[in-house]
Amino acid sequence: ATSIPADDRVPDMEKRNLMNLLLLGAIALPTGGMLVPYAAFFAPPGSRGGSGGTIAKDALGNDVVASEWLKTHAPGSRTLTEGLKGDPTYLVVENDGTLATYGINAVCTHLGCVVPWNTAENKFICPCHGSQYNNQGKVVRGPAPLSLALAHADIDDGKVVFVPWVETDFRTGDAPWWA
Ligand code: FES
Repeated sequence: ATSIPADDRVPDMEKRNLMNLLLLGAIALPTGGMLVPYAAFFAPPGSRGGSGGTIAKDALGNDVVASEWLKTHAPGSRTLTEGLKGDPTYLVVENDGTLATYGINAVCTHLGCVVPWNTAENKFICPCHGSQYNNQGKVVRGPAPLSLALAHADIDDGKVVFVPWVETDFRTGDAPWWA
């Protein structure tokens, strides 16, 4: 019987591991190369917050600083910012003058129009087909089938950071349809 001396086995294993690594690299590289421009488009360097979050951007494309925002946005205001995946997302100032811990995705769940906030009606009213949502984005009139999506609005280093909302929708008690 032939047996391979232990001394010879180690280099062979190393060589094989190296081959595997090279093979993996060869497969991974083209994929990585395609992903980079895609990822960079949605998340320019420095715009990412922690834990999958995205720093909210104001209408001018600047990071939203919570303290500055509260100086210029009245209690009860709902103002569009750029949120997760570039989606228009309302930043809410509560009636007590604090920032709400949630943002409201402005994309209508009917056919995707951006839904404006109507201060006088205290609702979001879609101009496309008349769907209405209450002041937290819960659907109150169709044809929209679902409430507006939520995102967490956290504060990190003074800036507002939207983080995906994967928990129960507090407005309906249902699992989030968007997660
Ligand atoms: Fe908003 Fe149709 S897209 S009601």
